[in-house]
Order: sequence, then C-alpha cells, then structure tokens
Amino acid sequence: MKRRTFLTGAAALGLTAGTSAARAVAAESPPSGGITALPDEIATALARFRATIPVNFDRAYVENVVVPYFLSSFYEGERPKLPLIDLILSKENALPQDLWGLIYSEWQPTPEEGSTVFLQGLENRGENNLRKRIYFSAMTTDLYKPMYSEKVSAFFDELMDPKFADIPFMRHYLDYYFDLYWDLHVGVKGNAIPAEVREIGEAFNTVLAYRNPLQPIVYENYMAVRKRLDFLRTWIDERVEDIANGRIANPEKTLAWYWLKNAGDGTHFSKKDIIFECFHNFVALSQWGNSLYGIMSRLSENDGDKAVRSSFQKTMSGDFDHANGAPYTPLELFVMELFRTISPNSGSISAIHDARDSAYGESPHRSLGLSFERHSYLITPHTATSFSRELWKEPDTFDPDRYREVPTSADIDEEKCRQVGLARCPFDMTSFEVKDGRKVSITNSGFGTVFGVADGQPSPVCDFAGFAPFGFSYRRCPGEQLTIRVFEDFLRKVWKEKIIFRKLPLTQPGRVPIGPTAVIDDNIGFSR
Ligand code: HEM
Repeated sequence: MKRRTFLTGAAALGLTAGTSAARAVAAESPPSGGITALPDEIATALARFRATIPVNFDRAYVENVVVPYFLSSFYEGERPKLPLIDLILSKENALPQDLWGLIYSEWQPTPEEGSTVFLQGLENRGENNLRKRIYFSAMTTDLYKPMYSEKVSAFFDELMDPKFADIPFMRHYLDYYFDLYWDLHVGVKGNAIPAEVREIGEAFNTVLAYRNPLQPIVYENYMAVRKRLDFLRTWIDERVEDIANGRIANPEKTLAWYWLKNAGDGTHFSKKDIIFECFHNFVALSQWGNSLYGIMSRLSENDGDKAVRSSFQKTMSGDFDHANGAPYTPLELFVMELFRTISPNSGSISAIHDARDSAYGESPHRSLGLSFERHSYLITPHTATSFSRELWKEPDTFDPDRYREVPTSADIDEEKCRQVGLARCPFDMTSFEVKDGRKVSITNSGFGTVFGVADGQPSPVCDFAGFAPFGFSYRRCPGEQLTIRVFEDFLRKVWKEKIIFRKLPLTQPGRVPIGPTAVIDDNIGFSR
C-alpha cells in the first residue's frame, strides 16, 4: 500500500491536520531512510479499526479519546523489593492520554487552569515535595475524629438505615456518595448540591468504570462531563470562596480549608489548584466504592471468605481500638489487611521515556515523523507486589498481624537504609510545619513516604513494599489514612449494630459502575 491510501484511512479516522497524529502521517516529503510507503498491515488495521467507531461520535472525541486510547501501551513493571519507584518513572502527566478531555476542555494538560499533584513529577512540586505536603495537611490523622468522622458516620447511618435492608447496596451507595464527597471537600450536601454537579460526578465515574471509549455509554458520559466542566469549576470556586470568607458553618471541617491555610503564597498550590484537586478527587474517592464492595463480598454471610469473617470476629471481640503502644490498633491492622488483599487500585502508573532516544539514537517513530508510540506507560503492580513470596512468608494467608513485623515510615532512617544495603537514604528527611494553628508537621521517611506528626506524636504508615495498595514513596497516596479511618467507622457500625451482608437471590442483578475499571453485579444487601 502507498502512503496516499494510508492518508485516506487516517483522515477518516479523525487524524486530520492540526493533530499531532495527523502531522505524523501527513508529512509531505518522503521520510528519510528511503522508506516511502507504509506497510499494508497498518492500512488493514486502520480500516478494521475505523469500522468499529460508531458514526455518531463527535469528531473531536474520536481524535482525542478513541485514537489515543488505541495508540496507548501499558507495560507491566517489576514488583519493587523496597517501597520505592525510581524517578525515571515519572508522575509528570502520567495519565492515559485519552482521559485528559475529562479534566481539561482543551483535551490536553493545561496547567494554567489548575493542576493536581497526582500528575506532577517530583521536580515540579516545589522543594522536598512541597505540594504533596500542603495536600497532606488536610489528611493528617489528628483531623479525622474532630473534623471528618461525624460526616462519615452520618453518611453510613443514612446508608444503612433499616428501611434500606435487603436492597442491592451499591446503587444505593452511589445515590448518596456525592453527599459525602462534597461535604468533605467543601461542606455542602443534600439539596445544596446542584443537579449538574451530581451529574458530572456520576458521568465521570461511569467513564472510569467502563473505560473503553468505543462503548456508547462511555461516549455519552464523557461528553456529559465535558458539557458540565465549566459549571463545576465555577461552582467549586464559589464554595471555596465561602470557606475562605467563613460564610459556611465549620469551614475547618472541610479539606479545602486546610489547603487554603497551608498554600503559602500559592506558588505550589494556587486557588485554581484547590478547585482542580476538589474535582480531580473524583478519581481518588471513587475507589471507596470498589473497596466497600470488596469488603462486603468478603464479609457476606452466604458467599463470603471464611478467613476474613473469622478474623473480623476475632478482631472485634478484642480491644480493637487501642494500639497499646504499637503503631497500629487491631482494627487498623484488619483494615490494612483488607486493602492488601482487595487491592482496589491495581498499580502505580508512570510516564516512561523511549530508551532508543538515548541508547540507539533517534527512534524510528521520530525520524519518520510518526507518533504512534507516543503514549506509553508503565504500571508498577500492587496486587502482585502485595502477594510476593519474596516479601512475605505466607502472602496468601489473611493475617492482619503481619504488619507488626515490618517497618513503619517512622522507622526508616539513615541506619535502616544502611541495613537494607543503601549507602544513604534516597530522600532527605525534612519537615513542613502546617500554618493552620495546629502543632502538626508533615515529615517523610528515608524512602520519601510522607506522614504526619501531631503534637510530637508520629502517625506513620507501613513502609514496606509488601503493603502496596496505596503505592510507594514520595508519590504514595495521601488519602490512605483517611480511607482507613473511613472503613474503620464502617466496620465499627457493622459490628455494633450486628449488620450482616448477604448475596441476594436476584436472577438479573443491575450492573453498576462502582470504581475505576469496575462494573459489578449489584447483588449484595444488608440486614440486621
Ligand atoms: C480506596 C481508596 C484509595 C486507594 C486504593 C488509593 C490509591 C492510591 C495509589 C495507589 C496512589 C499512588 C499512585 C501512583 O503512584 O501512581 C495514590 C495517589 C494519590 N491518592 Fe489515593 N487512593 C485512595 C483514596 C484516596 C483519597 C480518599 C484521596 C484524597 C482524599 C486520595 C488522593 C491521592 C492523591 C492526591 C494521590 C497522588 C499522590 C502523589 O502523587 O504524591 N486517594 N492513591
């Protein structure tokens, strides 16, 4: 096949002038190296691909979502032996290319409109991971009880009111979830949340859950998100203003309040960034849905996991809320083990560089002007790491006590780094004092893992590669301890009120999008 035929196929695909992919195929002069035509296989593949795209899809959607989705590659990375991901695997713009249109109207990174720490390389976060520390100031464990737990408990009380017994749980959860989401972020719930704001959240989650952009449900929801993006930004902006000016009750019970207070001069956390984080967290908190489903499935009376059920019984029959000098309480250990085994987030995603640039000169794709390999990502796996036989003696056993034997982030200092064979700690240990009136600092381990110290009392996390569900090092999840506390509250309620979960006898359960890449049969209910 000659280049001309290829271009016809490319144009029909939406690879038109002005897009980088189009530039790749539309170069007028023949590429260097004597190659004048592209192989037949590509034309055939393009024609087959073209035939799968529904005709009603918006052209910009095809160009910016469908095509990049199919030109992206995800590679399985190694299971780390230490809880570290090397900086060469970058967080900078490490988002699958086809998802940018969900967060930016230009379909591509537009940091002037605000950005999230989740998509920033360490080199762009300010000194010593400053942006992450500002973010973390809203997440330290001292805040949970006085500021957030009432909201979380009220949410679970409503959700598990006896009148909702024996109905499919997850659809019901999703109907209320945004009340908790916006209450935590900006102190707004119920009728004060506009329909558009609920709709965009639901549409966002639906795209993440179904994922394949060729499915009409993904297309419709993707476009629904884009239609409401400006409305959402303006709405959050006004809510953040209300918090800044004390126009809501208890502004200190919102995440945004801590970001406002600790943003310094805003260089590394501007007001636009606060707005952006408030809705980028759609991605983060959507994982509570599949975590909840995973926990209920394991505790289910007729379809659960025997080992998990008996461990829950044992934990709750003891002194489950007291650490007695240890780093974690028994209930926290139980929740950690649930997360290791459920692993709601399958891997840490990194942007990677084409090694041929440095090792073998320019890559053929660049010299030919083809950008087909532009979107490549590496996934550092969580489940496989958490179940590694090199890291745990009995990885398959459900054993919350395993974390008593491995280091916490407060243990990883110079000496510990030397013990594991390093000449020095990969990260300097530094502290960021919060500016919101609390005596709290945000510090880090020698591996870069960030954690809080309140009134001199550290609240470390497990800093061991075998505990992978929240990622690793400087880029580890800042919402980990908040998440663990939320699920502790859930389990306390389940235990106290003798709530039981059961698989419901439904012939055709509803399909419900409960988290990233997770659409499940909604077939679990509760009763007392
Ligand atoms: C079930 C719940 C959650 C799971 C399993 C989870 C998992 C993760 C993982 C694995 C990472 C690391 C990603 C990487 O390195 O590529 C991460 C990062 C992050 N998470 Fe979470 N997360 C959860 C909840 C939350 C919550 C509730 C928040 C905020 C309130 C949050 C905010 C973030 C942010 C901002 C990052 C980026 C951190 C950085 O790059 O420095 N997450 N999360």
